[in-house]
Amino acid sequence: MSDKTEKTAIITGASRGIGANLARKLAADGFAVVVNYNSSADAAETLVSNIKASGGTAIAIAADISARDGIAHLFDTAKAEFGGVDVLVNNAGIMSCASIADTDDDAFEKQVAVNLGGVFRGMRSAANQLRDGGRIISFSSSVVGLYQPTYGVYAATKAAVEALTHVLAKELGPRGITVNAVAPGPVATDFFLKGKSDQLIENMIAMNPFKRLGQPDDITNVVSFLASEQGGWISGQTIRANGGVI
Ligand SMILES: NC(=O)c1ccc[n+]([C@@H]2O[C@H](COP(=O)([O-])OP(=O)(O)OC[C@H]3O[C@@H](n4cnc5c(N)ncnc54)[C@H](OP(=O)(O)O)[C@@H]3O)[C@@H](O)[C@H]2O)c1
Repeated sequence: MSDKTEKTAIITGASRGIGANLARKLAADGFAVVVNYNSSADAAETLVSNIKASGGTAIAIAADISARDGIAHLFDTAKAEFGGVDVLVNNAGIMSCASIADTDDDAFEKQVAVNLGGVFRGMRSAANQLRDGGRIISFSSSVVGLYQPTYGVYAATKAAVEALTHVLAKELGPRGITVNAVAPGPVATDFFLKGKSDQLIENMIAMNPFKRLGQPDDITNVVSFLASEQGGWISGQTIRANGGVI
């Protein structure tokens, strides 16, 4: 076990995108960071090396959060390495856009397994194992409030994350644990950019009052605040970090 006494944060899906940016941010904030990944082992290990080179503490742990034992493995390994867990960020997520008529069972079940199953099991493990005064922050999406064609299943999984968040905040408040959701609008990661034409991206930028896409920093600054001591009186909230698009 590490002899360091800093607080520990688990971030699911931290090998790439917003999660990787958040791992760097929380490490700079002083957390020992668990960088969870599913398939991007090299990216996760490189990220951990970079955090360590900057004086931070981090380990990479492979776990498929959609599997029944994925989250349990993350918590077990984090506790063995760092002695306990203070913050869980349920960041990992997938999206597969199609009309409801065209969504097959595999696409439905996969999104539910990662976006809802992974977050549910993350919340359950955190509720049982987080130290008092801890933080649970889960990723929703601003599409929950937009009701756009082709986003039905994805938005439904994220709406469920918000429901779990608001219930769990009431269950864990007596232990000083805050539970919140962050709902980004479009953020310039593979997740959003992949498969979209330049024209579609321009159209989405035009819809935003700030006339730009969100950047990972726009989101990780919010999560960093919620994870901090200063965020301790915010609980049971969904924060729509989207530049005012809705
Ligand atoms: N980008 C946006 O525009 C946007 C907008 C609203 C909400 N969000 C939400 O923000 C979160 C992060 O999105 P992002 O843009 O950073 O996505 P991203 O760039 O696609 O990264 C997704 C991350 O999730 C991990 N992941 C996927 N399935 C996993 C599984 N079964 N187990 C463990 N890890 C898994 C990936 O790990 P591997 O590569 O190792 O598989 C990767 O590190 C998601 O919950 C997403 O729904 C994003």
